[in-house]
Amino acid sequence: MTGLKVLISREQIAERVAAMGSEITRDFAGQAVIFVGVLKGAAIFLSDLARQVQLDATFDFIGVSSYGNRPSPAQELKSGWDSTGEVRLTKDMDQSMQGRNVILVEDILDTGLTLTYLKKIVQAHQPKSLRIAALLDKPSRRKQPIEADYLGFSIPDEFVVGYGLDYAEKYRNLPDICIVPREG
Ligand code: IMP
Repeated sequence: MTGLKVLISREQIAERVAAMGSEITRDFAGQAVIFVGVLKGAAIFLSDLARQVQLDATFDFIGVSSYGNRPSPAQELKSGWDSTGEVRLTKDMDQSMQGRNVILVEDILDTGLTLTYLKKIVQAHQPKSLRIAALLDKPSRRKQPIEADYLGFSIPDEFVVGYGLDYAEKYRNLPDICIVPREG
């Protein structure tokens, strides 16, 4: 695709992720944490964030799909989407979260429907604590009252790709976060 414009550079990401890692290290000093990454967008963020945390840490992954609610990415770029609120679990966690310090790791907090749904699933395991780490936040799009405990960057209502985020499964491997231009 032509016309991708860098919104957040790899250097800015690295600096912010390191700061988030220090915050988590401080908040959970002397304790173990489990990072639960939301597939697939959070994979790169999780791997960088976890390496900035100096604690005993383990990983798990959960998969969700909002298939059926969202229009195609091309349509979303033209007119935005209006989710009906249905999120489907495509992959459950492999381990129990009971009594553990869980950090849900997500690429972007948009309407908030996904994380609201995932929070409920994790809460049902009765974790010792549950925090949300999100790299990006589009607060203007929120439909559910949910916030990240650890946030990378607040961004305007633009469709972004790179550093794990995709457009029709592409561009996840771009090192910078880029804006996809709207059509028309
Ligand atoms: P929410 O349930 O509306 O908060 O949506 C969160 C999910 O929507 C993210 O995990 C992404 O998969 C997707 N998403 C939202 N905005 C963007 C974007 O700008 N680029 C790529 N994916 C996005």
